[in-house]
Amino acid sequence: MNNKIISKKVIAEFSNTRIIRIEVYSPIISEHYKPGQFVIIMVEEKGERIPLTITETDLNKKTISLIFQEIGYTTKLLGNLKEDDVLYHIAGPLGKPTEITNYGTVVLIGGGVGTAEIYPVAKSLKEEKNKIITIIGAKNKNLVILEEEFKKISNELYITTDDGSYGEKGFVSDILKKLINQKIKIDLVYAVGPIPMMKVISEITKCYNIRTLVSLNTIMIDATGMCGSCRITYDGKINYVCCDGPEFDAHKIDWEEITNRNKTYLKQEEYILKSSFCKHI
Ligand SMILES: Cc1cc2nc3c(=O)[nH]c(=O)nc-3n(C[C@H](O)[C@H](O)[C@H](O)COP(=O)(O)OP(=O)(O)OC[C@H]3O[C@@H](n4cnc5c(N)ncnc54)[C@H](O)[C@@H]3O)c2cc1C
Ligand code: FES
Repeated sequence: MNNKIISKKVIAEFSNTRIIRIEVYSPIISEHYKPGQFVIIMVEEKGERIPLTITETDLNKKTISLIFQEIGYTTKLLGNLKEDDVLYHIAGPLGKPTEITNYGTVVLIGGGVGTAEIYPVAKSLKEEKNKIITIIGAKNKNLVILEEEFKKISNELYITTDDGSYGEKGFVSDILKKLINQKIKIDLVYAVGPIPMMKVISEITKCYNIRTLVSLNTIMIDATGMCGSCRITYDGKINYVCCDGPEFDAHKIDWEEITNRNKTYLKQEEYILKSSFCKHI
């Protein structure tokens, strides 16, 4: 049955944070998907629509895999579903695919659940014979994801944790600075993670004139370019992340605007998590 959850696994857990992988039966999306693309899902009929990156597809099983972190109402609702449950709706594949070509040496940087979003791109760039240097960062050891998968496709893999419980203590940007200081020739940086992380990476690479792509996590509703919720200013012009992205040249983004716009519904998001409406999840 379309949109049925075929498998579900909690791949990381710490305190009240869980990162979950689900595999969903979706023949049309799995057939048309290209790396860098995402879907918009609705867990239930009256629920909101949330964007999630497609991490992997299986053409034999006709499935797509999604990896998500439970951070608010809808991701928690999704995390509570079980195998054999059926998602109300999935639209996709959406967004422009990543340009997969031979760049040379590519540094891929994933912060938190952004690590799941760089994985399909890293895998495809490896197949195009790029040298893959991966840097993944997490708050602590328990929240590091996809380490084994990245070991298989990376020429070099660096892991950082904020508290030093695994890998190197510090941030992904510290490793990037080290690589730059070692005068390693970097042809492209590809980063996905929280907005402050991508902004810092962008500031560093701008100084060294290193081409940098980021996949933006703006708030999205319709993902058709109609509602305007994902609007950004890019190279001085209005762009919509759902249709013109989600990938953009990091050096042309108005980072302050994105930071502010992503806080638009903070009060409502906090309210719904605390309200009785949320008690059943
Ligand atoms: C193109 C795209 C691909 C994405 N892929 C993934 C993915 O593969 N895995 C994953 O875990 N998440 C991904 N996200 C983020 C995901 O959509 C949000 O985590 C989700 O919408 C939050 O919904 P919620 O109701 O659970 O939380 P909410 O209550 O809506 O929000 C909780 C907190 O998250 C922040 N937030 C809200 N929307 C977003 C957002 N779009 N991005 C980041 N933070 C947000 C809010 O400011 C708030 O602080 C992606 C976002 C985009 C735009
Ligand atoms: S999500 Fe509505 S315009 Fe992009």
